[in-house]
Amino acid sequence: MLTTLFRNAAIYTPVDEGKPLAGKLQGHVRSWERGALLCDKGIITAVGSEEDVLAKAKDMEVDMEVDCQGACMIPGFVDPHTHICFAERREKEFSMRLAGASYLDILKAGGGILSSVRSVRNAKEEELLSTTLDNVLTALSFGTTSMEIKSGYGLDTETELKMLRVIERVGKETPLDVVATFMGAHAIPEEYKSNPEEYVKLLIDEMIPAASKQGIAQYCDVFCEEGVFSVEQSRRILEAARNRGFKLKIHADEVHDLGGAGLAAELETASAEHLLAANEENLKAMAEKGVIADLLPATAYSLKKPYAKARKMIELGVPVALATDCNPGSSYTESMPFVFGLAVLNMDMTVEEALVASTLNAAYSIGLNHKVGSLEVGKQADFLLLDGETPAILAYHAGVSPVVEVYKKGINVA
Ligand code: NIG
Ligand code: FE
Repeated sequence: MLTTLFRNAAIYTPVDEGKPLAGKLQGHVRSWERGALLCDKGIITAVGSEEDVLAKAKDMEVDMEVDCQGACMIPGFVDPHTHICFAERREKEFSMRLAGASYLDILKAGGGILSSVRSVRNAKEEELLSTTLDNVLTALSFGTTSMEIKSGYGLDTETELKMLRVIERVGKETPLDVVATFMGAHAIPEEYKSNPEEYVKLLIDEMIPAASKQGIAQYCDVFCEEGVFSVEQSRRILEAARNRGFKLKIHADEVHDLGGAGLAAELETASAEHLLAANEENLKAMAEKGVIADLLPATAYSLKKPYAKARKMIELGVPVALATDCNPGSSYTESMPFVFGLAVLNMDMTVEEALVASTLNAAYSIGLNHKVGSLEVGKQADFLLLDGETPAILAYHAGVSPVVEVYKKGINVA
């Protein structure tokens, strides 16, 4: 199929201004109540009012025409922060948390991330691929057409490289655009418990060079948190990664205000993640450096913590993106519609701000902005048809997915 015309859709798309949208522009969305989109070999060649697009299509050979019957069309979701490559769920641990155990105490006792490490180390590559594909295809059915996936359940060179190979294969074996992040600095492995500094050395001297040589991961991320990696250790790890050609991300101030957001600004990382406890001074510094805040409201929901201060960040001019953080511990959801609803109802973001955050700004935070994140000429025809009139349906129709059809490069994939 070459040229396809989608007509009779209520189109809502962020406007790509060449950089992540922030402050007053955080909700910069354009819409056509009766719109149409034309694509050729999966790339958008026209988008706008139906009248304008039909005029453009008149002299062209259109191979297929789809009547969207007034459905709302938005760009496919970009999920810029996941740990979706894992081998086993941790349902018992969830019950322990409900009974009062804290996330970090469970980790300290050798559970949490470390229990995922045990199962991922034991899993054969094909098994890990199969569980990951299941999770990713669920995400696709909820409208995620591009995704970042982190390693970080290996915590030794061999298993981290295995995870990254699996992540690469997910990109080849599904319709999604997948971006891989090396996160060997996700926790201190049990065998280095008494000497964490040795593990930092291993990361710098062996694991980061090996991941760089393998060539799959584009980003490097660190869990900067009390009892995990200090600000000083995170700085050394991220600097070593930058020297090896990685772009940078950081799990910052998720539980404690350790100063991770400040480090993100200092190193001008692409994004800083979580930020539930980040202080205003460091958020200001992030705004100055254009560091994107990847906010993960499903994690606050699942950990029963106060949500990140999205309004404050937008007011300060920090570009905000949204992600699931899908993982078997702190946020077990593949659903961007769920995250969208939490952002609007629990973080007071407007529908337009949440739309930009879950598509265009998310694309910027994983370096895919040149091809996805908005419906504009020259970008991929990655879009969703919703059972609703406007993107507000994503927050309004709670607990279900209003995503009816998913298109990747102009092809119906879910
Ligand atoms: O982003 N905070 C660290 N990492 C993940 C959780 C991973 C896990 O519990 O398995 C997060 O919340
Ligand atoms: Fe995370």
